Formats: sequence, structure tokens, C-alpha cells
Amino acid sequence: MGQPRHAPEDPDWWRTAVIYQVYVRSFADGDGDGTGDLAGVRSRLPYLAGLGVDALWFSPWYPSPMKDGGYDVADYRAIDPAFGTLAEAEKLIAEARELGIRTIVDIVPNHVSDQHPWFRAARAAGPGSAERELFHFRRGRGTDGELPPNDWPSQFAGSTAPVWTRLPDGDWYLHLFTPEQPDLNWAHPAVRQEHEDVLRFWFERGVAGVRIDSAALLAKDPDLPDLATRPRPHPFVDRDELHAVYRSWRRVADEYGGVFVGEVWLPDPERFARYLRPDELHTAFNFAFLSCPWDAARLRAAIDTTLAEHAPVGAPATWVLCNHDVTRTVTRYGREDTAFDFATKAFGTPADLALGTRRARAAALLSLALPGAVYLYQGEELGLPEADVPADRVQDPMYFRSGGAAPGRDGCRIPLPWAEDMPYAGFGAHEEPWLPQPADWPSYAVDRQERDPDSMLTLYRRAIALRPMFGDGPLSWLPAPDGVLAFSRAGGALCVVNLAPTPAVLPPHSRSLLTSGPLDEAGRLPPDTAAWLRA
Ligand code: NOJ
Repeated sequence: MGQPRHAPEDPDWWRTAVIYQVYVRSFADGDGDGTGDLAGVRSRLPYLAGLGVDALWFSPWYPSPMKDGGYDVADYRAIDPAFGTLAEAEKLIAEARELGIRTIVDIVPNHVSDQHPWFRAARAAGPGSAERELFHFRRGRGTDGELPPNDWPSQFAGSTAPVWTRLPDGDWYLHLFTPEQPDLNWAHPAVRQEHEDVLRFWFERGVAGVRIDSAALLAKDPDLPDLATRPRPHPFVDRDELHAVYRSWRRVADEYGGVFVGEVWLPDPERFARYLRPDELHTAFNFAFLSCPWDAARLRAAIDTTLAEHAPVGAPATWVLCNHDVTRTVTRYGREDTAFDFATKAFGTPADLALGTRRARAAALLSLALPGAVYLYQGEELGLPEADVPADRVQDPMYFRSGGAAPGRDGCRIPLPWAEDMPYAGFGAHEEPWLPQPADWPSYAVDRQERDPDSMLTLYRRAIALRPMFGDGPLSWLPAPDGVLAFSRAGGALCVVNLAPTPAVLPPHSRSLLTSGPLDEAGRLPPDTAAWLRA
């Protein structure tokens, strides 16, 4: 296909980029062992170039015991042997670059794997040791220290599991996620130094950006006060000390022209925007947009708030509909409650997938028309639904940490279907994929969608190719009936999305460029449909 992408030397590419998230384990299996790998990604680079994306964000690809899908990192400077080698990652970065695609790696600074050399050393060195100062080790409460040091809740939604684990020597250590993910002590200079070295390690290898996991959780109140005492500021969310950390990271990134995208889940737009000040992170994921229900007024408010919060700091917005943690878009939009919230995720929620798919198609055109960068999660371009994973195949700790109450995130991590008539829908050749694919997975296969002018894949390819016509200017809302979103961009293109239950008359335009579904006989925009028009 070969649409014009950002030139290799364009320092501002990230302001308007389309960035595709690769969850390597489930993307493509090059050696046929049932697990996706770098060979699989390399073989599919032409596909990604054809889709027209500007960059790939790789969820952690480092050596990991996979207790949390790779977010438990044992070595930040290597590749998990199940995925390949560092030399192969270097080749992949270079090959992608030749196709005009940049690479973003995922850094997990809040915690390491309990198999990371630092934690192994800390465990071995015993109470009071210097090695333990890199983490949060404490004595317990109660007469014999048998009670955890404080009352903090697990950061896995729905989890009632404790965030403290006691070692046989009596010390407890803090882990906001699983016990296999001990939290680092960010007040320790060695922790800061190590991460800056890791950033350099990857920038030296040609990566263009870094995604920062759990970016607002790193700093902890050294007194670790109980939440029940309502301490202010919060003892582990969005603490002011963090900004010095990111300012220092920014200086490293600037040496290489690298960029950051932070995973910052914060309800307060003003606090969120502080991370995006000109000397901190370049961008952060827009979880307000991702969580928003399919409702015109709510979406418009989310868009307006996003643009208003980014404007004073000069950072571009990002538009995200899904990722490896949340319910897939076509399923979410096909449910009665179309918002995303970890707390309400439940087994057996019915979804009308035809409706959800119509809305997801319209939402794709909406997001790709907005000013800023867009994130796509692998399989979103295929319209994959959330899958049900049988209880005996579940891998996600979110499920186990909730005692089986929370469905967890495996349902959005199912290995991709590439070829309709191949074993395992072309994901890999020999072994069964690490998560089972639903029976209808071949019907979503890439090769089938490539032949279908009306497929989700065709829509995404067209939209990404046409997107530059919106230009890089602001948006202006146009008058529209209730339930209809209509805006123009300085590039001279309009986007109209009908979320109302009745067809909408399109605003004056010279040409229709792309629609997410057919117009009705009267040329009106049906419900749950979007159109891109030339003004
Ligand atoms: C956010 C990641 O996206 C998620 O997958 C992970 O479980 C947590 N951070 C902990 O690293």
C-alpha cells in the first residue's frame, strides 16, 4: 500500500502518529511452538506497513516468568527466549524502520519480577541489608509481626488479595500487583540510575519511544501510612516526587530524540496534565476516552475535556479505544453498559456483536479524525471480539487474585487469526496456541478480510491512508442534532458520527470520502455510523 508516513527525520512524528500495540505472545508464532515471537512479528512487518501505522509499541518482551503476562520483568536488557534474542530485536527495530515504522518499548519501573537479580539478592541478604533498601521491606504489625505493615489494597481491580508478602525471615515486602512483582523503592538513587541506564540501552538500539507502565504509582510515602487514616497526599498514587523522576528521564530521551507515553490512570484532568508539561512526558494514554460509554454527549465531553487539559501544556492528545487490559471494543459497544470499568467487568455479560461492530467501525473513524495520536491494539483492526476463556486455561493473575470473581484480561489476548484455512487460523503451525482461539476465529482472519471490501481491516486501511487530510489543526464542532457529533478540522475535512436512534442528515459537503457503513436510500447517515466528508 505505502501511504506517506512521517519522514524518518520528522521530530514531531509522535504528535499525529497511529501507533499499533503488539502483544508479542499473541501476535504471530514464527517457530510454531504456540507462543508468538519476534520471528512472527518480523514476518508480518509488511502487513503492518500495509495497514499504514507509524510505530509499534511492544508490550514487555523481556525475560519474564510471565506471572503477569511479561509485566514481571527479570532482565530489562534482554529478550525472553520464548520470543527470540536481543540480536533479533535489533534486526526487527531496523527492519521496521526501513518500512518507515518506529519502535516503542515498554518499561515497567514500578516493580520487577521476583526473579530479577536485585530481588533475589535482597531475599538472600536478609533483614536490614542494603539489598533490601531497593524495595519496600518492613516488619509486620501485631505481637509477632504476623500482620501486614499496612492496609493498602491490591492494584488489580476486584482483588481482595494483600499487597504484602512475608518471607520466612519475618520481613514483609510490598507488591501493588502480584507477589511475584515486588515494588521498587524510588527514593533510592540506584533505582533511578538503573532506569536511566535502561532507557539509554534501548535508545542506543534505535527505539523511538518508551511506554511507561503504571507511571503514576512509582513514588511511595516512606511512612507507608494506612489508607484508613486518609493520608494526603495519597501515599502511592500521583505523588509530586514523580515529576522530578520524569524530568530527569526527559533529559535522557532528549539526547536521543526519544518520546514517552505514560500509563497514567488519573481521574483529575489537571493532575493528569501535569505529567505532560514540556519537560516531562510527551504523551499519556487517554483512559477517559477509552472508558467513555457510546453516548454522544459523554463522548463530546470527554473530547472537550481532553483537548482543554492538553492545551495549556502544549501536549497532543491520544485516542485509545482498547489495549491488552480492557474489554475489546466490539464487545463493549455491543453491551447494555458500553462504558469500560474494571469494577463492573463480569462473566457472562451479553453482547450484541453486530451492533458492537457497527459502533466500533464508527468509533474508529471518530478516533482517527481527532487531533493527536491514535493507539490501536492488535486485532482491533480485525474487529476481534472479547473471547471467553475456559476456567482451566485462564492465565491472567487478575482472575486468580480476585478468587475467580473477575474475568481477567485473557479474553482480549487471544492469538491473532491470520489465515482462514490454516491450523490455528494461521497463528502458528504446530502447537496449540497458549490461549485457546474461539471456534469462529477463522472468520476474522486477515486473509479473509483482505479480500472483503467491507471488512473492518479494509476500513482501517482506508481510514489510516486518508487520515492526513484532517491536517494537524484544532477541531471545530459543527451544529448537529441531538446524539450526533460533527466537527471539522483545519485540513478541510469533516467527521460526522451518528449515535442517535434515527438517521441523520449530513452537513453540507462536496464529497463523501469514507463511511463506516452504507448511507440510507435518502443519503442520510444511519444510527451508529460515521462519515468522513470533504467540506
Ligand atoms: C499495567 C499493564 O498494562 C498491566 O497489564 C499490568 O498488569 C500492570 N500495569 C502491572 O504491571
